[in-house]
Amino acid sequence: MRRRDFVLGALGAGLASTGAFDSLVRNDITAQAAFARGGIPYGAAVRTDLLDTELDYKEAIIDHCQIVVGEGGLKWIDVRPSQEQFVFDQPDRLIDFADRNGMQMRGHTLAWYGAMPDWTKTIASADEAERELVHHITTVVGRYRGRIPSWDVVNEAIAETPMRGSVIRNSVWQERLGPRYIEIALRTAAAVDPSAQLVINDYNIENPTSQCRDRRKALLDLLRSLKDRDVPFHAVGIQGHLPGDMEIDREGLSRFVEDVKRMQLEVLVTELDVIDDTLPANEYDRDRIVARRAGDFLAAIGEAARPSAVLTWGITDRYTWVPMWFKRSDGKLNRPLPLDASYRPKALMKVIDEFTRAAE
Ligand code: XIL
Repeated sequence: MRRRDFVLGALGAGLASTGAFDSLVRNDITAQAAFARGGIPYGAAVRTDLLDTELDYKEAIIDHCQIVVGEGGLKWIDVRPSQEQFVFDQPDRLIDFADRNGMQMRGHTLAWYGAMPDWTKTIASADEAERELVHHITTVVGRYRGRIPSWDVVNEAIAETPMRGSVIRNSVWQERLGPRYIEIALRTAAAVDPSAQLVINDYNIENPTSQCRDRRKALLDLLRSLKDRDVPFHAVGIQGHLPGDMEIDREGLSRFVEDVKRMQLEVLVTELDVIDDTLPANEYDRDRIVARRAGDFLAAIGEAARPSAVLTWGITDRYTWVPMWFKRSDGKLNRPLPLDASYRPKALMKVIDEFTRAAE
């Protein structure tokens, strides 16, 4: 069921078909009503340009989301085309959209190895790296202080395959500063906006493989060492780019979330989608597997903690990053997201709805 139908149902079905009421719902009620019901807030990564160019897209976001996050826009490559410049067009537009529609906006991301502009390759010393990182975070978090309540401060810090002596993924920050870049980033963000939820965000921790086990352990070790030094941060973001052809390690994931919770940290799901390049071509079968993977994933997390939010990385199969890396060889479109390419809700949307509403 679509969220708007649910809201309309709650308010009286007879009103549902009048155009005037429709626009009232769209502009004022949907997200706020969902917040008020007290479930786990749901959101999606948004391509801000599409909000102006595609009405169906905009309506889908308004109908379903309480939270938005820019799929891009706040990455270094977007904000910092040159060392001197800060460009805030996209995030400014997205936060206005969020405000107008009673939604919250998450910030993604401040310290990541990816999406870095070329000029950052010239950062040559530890001092310079620290100065740049602090200047960037101070400016970006400062601009949205009190308006962006949750930040992916550190993204994908754990090495792809953690090994003894090299647990942190390489990046310009790691290269110049070593792992203390993580502490610098978190302390800076906390000083600029003490009320924001500061998140350490990572992926590939949910399958029954030794790689995922090692990554969970490396992440827990990092969290513990930060906690031991009283570094301010509040949550672990589990991205949830789930490989469709692999089972979820429900026990391992639940135990991980319990360990996180025991450190007085929150968890949230930040980038859920299901990579379906090797799943059956038949759409009905594929959608069922996609939904089951996400259901298992959410259930494993939910057994151990109540996530503070669930976000998918996009909302419609029409616009998804998945084919950039995981195109299907049979030429069929990927179907990783809750709505299909025509904005019809799929089984995955139902799974997310049920999970987020069960907490109401
Ligand atoms: C991806 C975007 O979806 C793409 O449009 C972009 O070109 C590259 O980045 N993990 C993350 C996200 O944390 O920032 C990535 O987003 C997807 C993987």
